[in-house]
Amino acid sequence: MNYKKALEHPIFKIISETTETLQIDSYVIGGYVRDYILKRNQHKDIDIVAVGSGIELAKAVAKNLPNSPKVQVFKTYGTAMLRYEDIEVEFVGARKESYREDSRNPIVENGTLEDDQNRRDFTINALALSLNKADFGHLLDPFDGVQDLNNKIIRTPLNPDITYSDDPLRMMRAIRFATQLNFTIETDSLDAISRNSERIKIITNERIVVELNKILESKKPSKGFLLLEKTGLLKHILPELNALKGIDEIEGQRHKDNFYHTLEVVDNISENTDNLWLRWAALLHDIGKAPTKKFDKKVGWTFHAHEFEGSKMVYRLFKRLKMPLNDKMKFVQKMVYMSSRPIVLANDIVTDSAVRRLIFDAGDYVDDLMTLCEADITTKNPKKFEKYHNNFKIVREKIVEVEERDRVRNFQPPISGEEIMKTFNLKPSREIGIIKESIKEAILEGEIPNEYQAAYNLMLKEGERLGLKVTN
Ligand code: CTP
Repeated sequence: MNYKKALEHPIFKIISETTETLQIDSYVIGGYVRDYILKRNQHKDIDIVAVGSGIELAKAVAKNLPNSPKVQVFKTYGTAMLRYEDIEVEFVGARKESYREDSRNPIVENGTLEDDQNRRDFTINALALSLNKADFGHLLDPFDGVQDLNNKIIRTPLNPDITYSDDPLRMMRAIRFATQLNFTIETDSLDAISRNSERIKIITNERIVVELNKILESKKPSKGFLLLEKTGLLKHILPELNALKGIDEIEGQRHKDNFYHTLEVVDNISENTDNLWLRWAALLHDIGKAPTKKFDKKVGWTFHAHEFEGSKMVYRLFKRLKMPLNDKMKFVQKMVYMSSRPIVLANDIVTDSAVRRLIFDAGDYVDDLMTLCEADITTKNPKKFEKYHNNFKIVREKIVEVEERDRVRNFQPPISGEEIMKTFNLKPSREIGIIKESIKEAILEGEIPNEYQAAYNLMLKEGERLGLKVTN
């Protein structure tokens, strides 16, 4: 079959002509071809393999492009990259490649196109389209990758033990592609991942996180996490999540399996948000339950303060995986820390003051927190399911109403410390804090409105209680 249509972008013609001048062969390979056949969104990265020097081809192509873009050369890997409009083109020379046991640094030897296809990760990623004049657009598919695309199968071109041992990250890539594309990993491959799972330890955390993020960004992330668990990868990369597995029973009392519960929550939230960090929060919202689990003869299973413990674990986990320790991490921490707050509301009659306190504590994240808590409803009892969702709906309505009236989302005290000091002729002291706190509490409790005059009156009353004199 001919795939000329996939090569309509002018860049392909320029590469083809350059290839001809250099008297070498070149091919588009990998994700671009795969996604074209799958009719997925157009792939922005184009991988070109040259049977010859990829670096020289890149330099020659750049010269033939309008504005002659810069070529970035990665000598150690024998690759070169250039940007043209909004696409990134990467050039590599075809090679027979083997990796040393415990390193990603390849020993490179020049090879044919077929050698190069052999050393790629999956049959669906080894598809190549010719850019040569004689057969422009011809598909080279030595491992029946198109058939695997049609049958939705992830398979390695070589014996999977070899492919995964060449680069153990591919074990995660297999699971990531299975999740993103909703494909099945072929049995031999899956067994090989289980056998080799420990080798994931030689892969840098940064590369692992790229795959974890892609799994989390998929439509149904649980598929990936179940595979990570089944193959034994999960315990190496996210032991905190692995520790949530299992149900204990003492004196006939059981708790739910928090691992499967968590995956349900992640799938639920993925239907309502594309925010990666909110999805991370869903994944980690119960991690504090493993270290805080206790059995109490009177009340049964408890996970006392697991939200606090969990939020501390978020920091350690992000640090270990070399994830950003910035506002994204703080957001995930806050979501985990507050993850049970609205649940109490959903069980009970929703009072204004409880809602006001929720808005005050969650600030701008109150909507995200509600989304997390709604996703957390995994009860199989339809009556309870409906009741909790209805109550959350009421909470959401109340949040809008209370916020409109009381504006406590980014609370600014209506009376400043300076005004208190001036009124009672005070130096910085304990009393100022006490008065400010009483005003804040009264507003949150709904005893006074969030307004200047009401707060002023309360200040005077509190001052009197503390034995202070008004000086004007
Ligand atoms: N590849 C590989 N082994 C890896 C990484 C990449 O064999 N560990 C090969 C595959 O042929 C892959 C190509 O390099 O198709 C490009 O890799 P990459 O850009 O990481 O992935 P894509 O397949 O383009 O897919 P995506 O952009 O969705 O990650």
